[in-house]
Amino acid sequence: MATHLDDTELRTGPSTAFPHGLIRNAWYVAAYSREVGRTLLARTILGKPIVLYRTEAGRPVAFHDACPHRAMPLSMGALRGDNLRCMYHGAMFDPEGTGIEVPSQHQVPPGFCVRRYPLIEAGYWIWIWMGDPAAADPALLPDQSILGHGAEGFHTLPTKYRHVEARYHLLNENLVDDTHITFVHRGQFDSGGRVHTPPQVGERDGIIVTRWYDPKERIAVPMRLLLDLDHEVGPRGLLGHFRPPATHGIWIQAWDPNEPDKLIRTCIIAFCFTPETETTTHLFIGHARNYRKGDADWDFHVAHSFDATQSQDGTVVEAIEQVMRKNQIVQEEVSFRSDTSIMRARRIMNEMLRRESNQPR
Ligand code: FES
Ligand SMILES: [Fe+2]
Repeated sequence: MATHLDDTELRTGPSTAFPHGLIRNAWYVAAYSREVGRTLLARTILGKPIVLYRTEAGRPVAFHDACPHRAMPLSMGALRGDNLRCMYHGAMFDPEGTGIEVPSQHQVPPGFCVRRYPLIEAGYWIWIWMGDPAAADPALLPDQSILGHGAEGFHTLPTKYRHVEARYHLLNENLVDDTHITFVHRGQFDSGGRVHTPPQVGERDGIIVTRWYDPKERIAVPMRLLLDLDHEVGPRGLLGHFRPPATHGIWIQAWDPNEPDKLIRTCIIAFCFTPETETTTHLFIGHARNYRKGDADWDFHVAHSFDATQSQDGTVVEAIEQVMRKNQIVQEEVSFRSDTSIMRARRIMNEMLRRESNQPR
């Protein structure tokens, strides 16, 4: 699988320049399933105001959060059974978005409706399609197995939402970049050596796969705690899956030190980045593991560990975002050999952006 770019390919060109803009034709996480119920939930997604709720039968619904009469946010209205009533002049919409009642007149104006967005509920998330509705193919939903769903013998749970004051491209690049681990997460995930051993990078079914493995790692104490290991030295690996534009499954693995072919721990952290705007991001995190299953204390421990990590990464990407917003980048970007995964990601993202640039929004 391993392929490395040569130095020429690390030069920044049109296809490997930092990507700018939102990719709309993709499934993004709109909310945790637990967030959407019989109370109206307002959230900005890809720069658009969205309101989410569930019908009495439990089906999730998403509308553009502005009434087609006078733009009142529908999220300030009220549910009437499966329908949503606008709080300004009382117009009522059914779960398809069709206007079914205008209290001040007998007939509903022809074509009176609010835009409804396609949704898919999968795992513990509700995914939304913000682009061309005709292109909203369920088959394009990211492979849920990389996020830890559906794997036999795994305990899977949603963890925590974070709001990040940075564009999602920065978050993507942070997550496919392993060499920052030694510096940003000092002592948490490695014993100081990761920066010298960049991962192998390849592609499989549209997913960028990064693979790092150390047969005799001196395993940092926080990592031993995370993986519930009692040995100090042993084989450990990290398998990163990035499904552009915004879905990541990070698999942290450990093997038995006495039987190096025997995989004993897999801890999966799922990260889904949903652009709120061009420069801010909703971050949804989930987790799966094949040890300490059903242990609520361990659920809390893992969620807490990754919250701390995300806070460190958040500091980095939010600081870079500030530089970008102020147009303070004055030098041509220089890349390192360890940036192979980022360059691959940029090629795919820029191609997706190029394909969408001529399409109506
Ligand atoms: S703004 Fe919604 S009914 Fe008037
Ligand atoms: Fe990080």
